[in-house]
Amino acid sequence: MQRVGFVGWRGMVGSVLLERMRAEGDFKGFEPIFFTTSNVGGAPPSVGLDAPPLADAGDLEALSSLDVIVSCQGGDYTTATHGRLRERGWRGAWIDAASTLRMRDDAVIILDPVNRDVIDRAIGSGTRDFIGGNCTVSLMLMVMAGPIRAGMVEWISSMTYQAASGAGARNMQELVRQMQVIGERAGALASDPAASALALDGNVQQTLTSEAYPVREFGAPLAASLIPWIDKPVADGQTREEWKGHVEANKILALSPEVPIDGLCVRVGAMRCHSQALTIKLRGEVPLPEVEDAIRASNQWAKVIPNEPDATKRELTPVTVAGTLDVKIGRLHTMRMGKDHVAAFTVGDQLLWGAAEPLRRMLQLWLSR
Ligand code: HSE
Repeated sequence: MQRVGFVGWRGMVGSVLLERMRAEGDFKGFEPIFFTTSNVGGAPPSVGLDAPPLADAGDLEALSSLDVIVSCQGGDYTTATHGRLRERGWRGAWIDAASTLRMRDDAVIILDPVNRDVIDRAIGSGTRDFIGGNCTVSLMLMVMAGPIRAGMVEWISSMTYQAASGAGARNMQELVRQMQVIGERAGALASDPAASALALDGNVQQTLTSEAYPVREFGAPLAASLIPWIDKPVADGQTREEWKGHVEANKILALSPEVPIDGLCVRVGAMRCHSQALTIKLRGEVPLPEVEDAIRASNQWAKVIPNEPDATKRELTPVTVAGTLDVKIGRLHTMRMGKDHVAAFTVGDQLLWGAAEPLRRMLQLWLSR
């Protein structure tokens, strides 16, 4: 029986992964071993299969004995561990969601509903490193793979509205704490119909700019504001998050020639769903219904929402998508720039298709091959 090690299963993405694996009945037919960086010998989580006490995530000997390692521990752990295991000759499958290995030639970026062919080819040529993509990129491809693969798309500009969860669990807490402080300080100004909106605005502005306002994680107020910068600067005025859009999407779909993808990435006060406003430049005029059909052909989770006010408010928001596997796209219409330009808005759960789900599915795929 194959032995599968789980590292970082207690964190936010790891918890979602275990929850999804339990829900899908994935815990069968293999031997799970749970690793820890802080509680060696502790009790493993209950997954319906016998598992030994928690093992040491730094124990290369124990890790080398595994057939598969699934890590949600983050990039530092991958950097510290993966290379040393390979140097020892370990030939097992490494599955993680960190950016450390993503762009390496010997790693494949996994998003099997849209690139199963690329994954299968990689496995066939001996690839053993299976890496989940950047959440924004994966969510965009969940709806855009169909039109891209159909050869309809010349380029895409993606302007993102990224949720707090993408920055981490502590950031989600900070966002809500910011909202709490705003509410506490506004007091009756927020609910008294006789209070002036300008007085409320002045109060909130004072809160947002006060020394005591909690901004440790984000480095700036997010609630009642936004932050148009995610990750580090790279070349040409881009951020690393923006750079990933082009390089990862093209690698995921193995596109040649490449389809240019670029835009600005912005953090907003949503909890766990990333949204993106897309400008899609088509290779000529394509009737909108054909574009919509190509989007639906991307996979069973790509859902087209009619470009109408009620449907948009009811279905095309982070709130209505959170916790579901549907990746929705709506507001679709041709633009003033010409009939070969289409506007769209898409939203998906960053913790599911953007993080845990591709790992869960890759593990199943590997175990059942
Ligand atoms: N980098 C993403 C974000 C997280 O900051 O929202 C997931 O790839």
